[in-house]
Amino acid sequence: MIWDTHAHLDDKQFKMDRDIVLQRARDAGVRTIINIGHSEATSQESVELATKYTFLYATVGIHPHDAKDCNEKTWMLLERLAQNPKVVAWGEIGLDYYRDLSPRDVQREVFIQQLELAKESGLPVVIHNRDAHGDVLKIITENPTGTGGVFHSYSGSWEMAKVLLDMGYYLSFSGPLTYKNARHTVEVAAKMPEDRFVVETDCPYLTPEPYRGKRNEPAYVREVVNKLAEIRGISFEKAAQLSTANAKKLFKI
Ligand code: NI
Repeated sequence: MIWDTHAHLDDKQFKMDRDIVLQRARDAGVRTIINIGHSEATSQESVELATKYTFLYATVGIHPHDAKDCNEKTWMLLERLAQNPKVVAWGEIGLDYYRDLSPRDVQREVFIQQLELAKESGLPVVIHNRDAHGDVLKIITENPTGTGGVFHSYSGSWEMAKVLLDMGYYLSFSGPLTYKNARHTVEVAAKMPEDRFVVETDCPYLTPEPYRGKRNEPAYVREVVNKLAEIRGISFEKAAQLSTANAKKLFKI
């Protein structure tokens, strides 16, 4: 049984066939899916999906891309949504200096604000970090939530991974682990302790091999588990069992 800890099933790419996609996930052994909010609208949709499907859970949060659209009303809405029993984390939040879709000072302000809200609500955090390692480390060090959390779709160095693991964070692997150029990510997946990794799809994005080029979906999380098992020299079942046990601890489900 596998958990997909990071999916965007509210995405318009799933509008026509979401029920079929979810059935394929069930048939592939995906027992639980965490649907990730990244804006006001998608946080609300995540909670609606989690209310509709028993095996789905939700998170609420504002992605750095959407940081520029936040105001006091945003925080009131998210705080209210976070009280829903199916909401298991705050995120995805963080910094994205690769696409820079919001000004960097606004991204930092909105990230800090949400670490505070996660702390108040007692929820673990789901962190997005792209080309912003230094600032992300500084901000999470200065603003501890005490609730734990995960670095989603981790693709940084082993040096950075060691710092995050020491701070108690989990690391999540996704489709890029299966790509040919994933040298750093493979190194981290091989060296990290077995009680701290989880797996995800980030669907509809980051499709793993051999489906690269197609829309991603939760059933394909098997390919990430398969690769993780191969890298660590353990069976598929063992990799699935470990990542599931870790996800349960991380999200306290
Ligand atoms: Ni995502």
